[in-house]
Amino acid sequence: MTFLFNSDARRGAVFAEAFARELPEVPFAMDPATVDPDAVRYLITWTVPQDLARYRNLEILFSLGAGVDQFRFDVVAANVKVVRMIEEGIVRMMQEYVTLSVLALHRNLPAYLGQQRAGEWHDIPQLPAASRRIGVLGLGQLGQAVLDRLKPFGFQLAGWSRSPKQIEGVACHHGELGLKQMLAASDILVCLLPLTDETRGFLNADLFARLPKGAALVHTGRGPQLHHEGLLAALDSGHLSSAMIDVTDPEPLPAGHPFWSHPKIILTPHVASVTQPVTAARAVIDNIRRHRAGLDPIGLVDRLRGY
Ligand code: NAP
Ligand code: GLV
Repeated sequence: MTFLFNSDARRGAVFAEAFARELPEVPFAMDPATVDPDAVRYLITWTVPQDLARYRNLEILFSLGAGVDQFRFDVVAANVKVVRMIEEGIVRMMQEYVTLSVLALHRNLPAYLGQQRAGEWHDIPQLPAASRRIGVLGLGQLGQAVLDRLKPFGFQLAGWSRSPKQIEGVACHHGELGLKQMLAASDILVCLLPLTDETRGFLNADLFARLPKGAALVHTGRGPQLHHEGLLAALDSGHLSSAMIDVTDPEPLPAGHPFWSHPKIILTPHVASVTQPVTAARAVIDNIRRHRAGLDPIGLVDRLRGY
């Protein structure tokens, strides 16, 4: 009953140490060439390996990341459970990044960076936080966590998900009507949706037109959700004021792409949140224990929904 770690050696060493301490009865391996494929019951990886079929007794395929859009479900046997990463390190990093972004956009940082480059010194009228409306697309582990972290600043908070939710201090919306209502009342829109057939191209010209004039975007979902030309047109017309973009399609962007130098865009290289090995190993070990006790692992993916 082997656990196979298919990623970088640095994080693998942390996992190996945690398995030896917490779950010694499950042999840990990092080199596929040295394992008996029939013994592999658990595999953790970022993308599905070409030779997945050799692990005929696989029970759980763990994603190293919170997202599973990089997995090809059609090559994963139907009886294998696919589990995404839910661990406190990834949550904390996303809370930091979105708080940083919301505060930067709330306090007009892109415009002030432009002023600095131009050698200009003048203030921009500042709204109090209580008058700024933040809308979060996606109320999963990350959307809910960032809303919780934003609460002490006093912003007006809203969120949108597929199913109805109730979260204290957050106006929760769902469905088409809910989306319309939230977009019309979002000065800063944060995208934390998973990439699925329904969310591909979601952040487009039509959606931007439904935001109030002067609104800003924080995009930390997945690159293919964002229509680049739609964003550029909305920024260049002045309908949107600014954007913090962490994910793009492709990654990295080609040289000369307008996002590299756009004065209203702050671009980061898909670093909003990264799986932290110590807390991730703990979460995976807990999930193996749950599975062996006959319980569903936390973060079990619904393959039909795509997340
Ligand atoms: P999650 O727990 O699965 O939550 C997803 C949320 O999106 C849920 O609230 C879900 O609604 C909602 N949703 C999905 N499809 C929808 C649709 N068609 N219409 C309305 N709502 C929809 O996911 P998570 O762990 O919070 O992660 C979200 C995403 O963040 C990941 O998939 C990944 O792409 C991205 N991410 C990015 C980074 C980065 O560094 N940039 C790092 C980690 C994760 P229900 O609650 O009703 O199901
Ligand atoms: C990173 O983007 C992740 O999905 O964890």
